[in-house]
Amino acid sequence: MKNEMIIVLDFGGQYNQLIARRVRECNVYCEVKPYTMSLDEIKALNPKGIIFTGGPNSVYDETSPHYQKEIFELGIPILGICYGSQLMAYTLGGVVETAPVSEYGHTEVTVDTGDVIFEGVSENTVCWMSHTDYIAKVPEGFKITAHTSVCPAAAMSCPEKKLYATQFHPEVMHTKEGMKMLSNFVYKVCGCAGDWKMDSFVETTIQSLREKIGNGKVLCALSGGVDSSVAAVLLSKAVGKQLTCVFVDHGLLRKNEGDEVEAVFGPEGPYELNFIRVNAQQRYYSKLKGVTDPETKRKIIGEEFIRVFEEEAKKIGSVDFLVQGTIYPDVIESGLGKSAVIKSHHNVGGLPDVVDFKEIVEPLRMLFKDEVRKAGLELGMPEYLVFRQPFPGPGLGVRIVGEVTEEKVRIVQDADYIYREELHKAGVDKDLGQYFAALTNMRSVGVMGDFRTYDYAIALRAVMTSDFMTAEAAQIPWEVLAKVTNRIVNEVKGVNRVLYDCTGKPPATIEFE
Ligand code: XMP
Repeated sequence: MKNEMIIVLDFGGQYNQLIARRVRECNVYCEVKPYTMSLDEIKALNPKGIIFTGGPNSVYDETSPHYQKEIFELGIPILGICYGSQLMAYTLGGVVETAPVSEYGHTEVTVDTGDVIFEGVSENTVCWMSHTDYIAKVPEGFKITAHTSVCPAAAMSCPEKKLYATQFHPEVMHTKEGMKMLSNFVYKVCGCAGDWKMDSFVETTIQSLREKIGNGKVLCALSGGVDSSVAAVLLSKAVGKQLTCVFVDHGLLRKNEGDEVEAVFGPEGPYELNFIRVNAQQRYYSKLKGVTDPETKRKIIGEEFIRVFEEEAKKIGSVDFLVQGTIYPDVIESGLGKSAVIKSHHNVGGLPDVVDFKEIVEPLRMLFKDEVRKAGLELGMPEYLVFRQPFPGPGLGVRIVGEVTEEKVRIVQDADYIYREELHKAGVDKDLGQYFAALTNMRSVGVMGDFRTYDYAIALRAVMTSDFMTAEAAQIPWEVLAKVTNRIVNEVKGVNRVLYDCTGKPPATIEFE
């Protein structure tokens, strides 16, 4: 069964993914597509509705992204947001101009609650604005449905043609009743039934994986992270022992992590699959000996992963399918990609080239992270696995500044373990995006007992973030930090100083390298 779908047509707005997530939170499947998609391609997808995103441009600038007028004549409901609303107005004969007063941030908007988009919304409601252009005159056939003190057409609609537009952003949480507006659009305007639910996703995916794979052989590189773990469990439910998971312990995992992964996916765990753990710790340490440059370390770790995986895959023989835990943001970012490379991260590139297989299987490629987690819970996976914080592919390799040695790995593992344990005990971990201990390359003088020490400084990091693109340093209660510090210097040999990283991203990054 195919899910009903809403398309988000991306005009370069920074909230494109967020709009899609919000629509999915309404239980309606939604995909982001580039504005260069042709009308025929759009029609072929048979969407129940289309949402135009915002964007940084001005519609009256010839070089800005536009869309042919015919899209408004398909009879498919359209909601234009910010730039999208101006584009709708401009294309249909309205007037868009530079606003006499720009509006940014929280803005009180007066809405016409008789308009279907604002049904159930308060007459005066706080919305998030971010615009320098505005709709000076709405197109013929449209009526103004909201205004602010400086923006005469904060929303407009033409119900006969099912066209709606808001100058503000209903998708961001600062728009207090934005979810209600989006839900009105998808249910009351587009007539969706709401068939996107995780239980049906899990069920239909297992079914279609079975059909696709038949009695073929499947190989999965399991890292223990959320995405590859959920992908492995889905596959194991679908094809059981036809699946082999290879887990490479590169010696740069958090304390006890290798054993935890083995306990879940190994022979003693609840899943029926073939599990191979490769203990490649020493191999990695010797490759990393003397290497201090962060990018070189990353490349060595990535490259070595491929070599180890390749060796194991050769032992297994030719496989039919290779599983990857690609998720939707990876798909969008590579498809519409535009950002600069700060670090050569994310996913183990190159894997497909070195293994003899027929096809890649990516069962999670249409899911956002929180949906992957919901699917994991639906599959009955333990919560501690499903709600794991992100952990970088090169692991502690990028949390040890400078050269990696076995001794330094031990230090950072032990310090990190204490930090995580204490944050959990204090109940502050659940509000954090990411938190860990890193080992600086700095040694300094201290005194323990009556002796002089010259030991390493551990840096503690904790950030609040929702998208990991920007982050703020978290304000961990002082008494918790004091306890962690005390335990680390007492229990972890080789450390005599503990520092807390107060820097946000930007200008720092979340990891240290
Ligand atoms: P940064 O340090 O760039 O990190 O602010 C943003 C997010 O990405 C993770 N990260 C990585 N993930 N391979 C990965 O798979 C990497 O090399 C890598 N470096 C950073 C980081 O943990 C954070 O969640």
